[in-house]
Amino acid sequence: MTDAAFIRSLPKVEMHIHIEGTLEPEMMFDLAARNHVRLPYRSVDDVRAAYEFADLQSFLDLLYRGATALRTVRDFDDLTSAYLRRAAADGVRHAEIFFDPQVHTERGVGFPVFMQGFAAARTRAEQEFGVASSLIMCFLRHLRGEAATATFEEAKPYLDQIVGVGLDSSEVGYPPSDFRQVFESARNVGLRAVAHAGEEGPPAYVWEAIDVLGVERIDHGVRAEEDAALVARIVADGITLTMCPLSNVRLRVFDRIEDHNLARLLDRGVKATINSDDPAYFGGYVADDYAAVASGLDLDRDELVTLARSSVEASFLPLDAKGQLINEIAAVA
Ligand code: ADE
Ligand code: ZN
Repeated sequence: MTDAAFIRSLPKVEMHIHIEGTLEPEMMFDLAARNHVRLPYRSVDDVRAAYEFADLQSFLDLLYRGATALRTVRDFDDLTSAYLRRAAADGVRHAEIFFDPQVHTERGVGFPVFMQGFAAARTRAEQEFGVASSLIMCFLRHLRGEAATATFEEAKPYLDQIVGVGLDSSEVGYPPSDFRQVFESARNVGLRAVAHAGEEGPPAYVWEAIDVLGVERIDHGVRAEEDAALVARIVADGITLTMCPLSNVRLRVFDRIEDHNLARLLDRGVKATINSDDPAYFGGYVADDYAAVASGLDLDRDELVTLARSSVEASFLPLDAKGQLINEIAAVA
């Protein structure tokens, strides 16, 4: 079996995937035409050519612009369905999908629209492609804590469809502590908590995500490596870093995949998982991220199996579902 086939054959959970970041240029064009939305691109090739990013912000600007093509229930259904079909082909058995409600509500597309689209696609994907999923609602850091609290109120009728809350968008200048209140409210009603931290921002933001927001996983967290006491805390508490190697290279967190610190952090006892972040923008779905670290960091098959197993263990699946997937991974290994 080739490495690529082995990677695809490994049952895995994807838990750092922004649904808006799965909008492929072809679909962006189709939806924009269907909805009479004007895009600042002449062609699909033009869109791809624009995907040269200097940093996180230059990417987010294009991500949010692309998302303006999404307007109807059917659009969110098509988007989610396409992602889940593609993820299933990579061996994803369960996806914990991030969505950014404020990217949509800010332009008049409300919770009833996107939640209905997500639900329809998720139900069909489980039957048709054999991939289960849940939803994690992320707040946009650049809109600050008060706006997040208002969004949480709007989400109240839909909380039975949401497994957790997260924090994303521009990092530097927007510390996690601003979101203390909304995370506390979310945890009080039984939601799980995760946050992007230490992608571009300093280790102090990772500390805040853990100590102030009470998160169970850190999204990215690569800059935690700079603080030995923080690495020790992450190891001691069993906090998992959800890493996205191709994203980190495209957003210039690391110059090359060979420079990525995943292997160094694993050697120090940190638990990590491999994910695709925004695959339509970064040139690869989750199996491509596994393949990139396998070759760039010289990981062997046992190490890839450990990463897949960590993805199951760090997921928010119930224990029996975790046990079943762990057994299936063992059978492949
Ligand atoms: N939203 C989508 N992708 C993101 C990333 N990598 N960091 C922060 N916010 C995001
Ligand atoms: Zn992300």
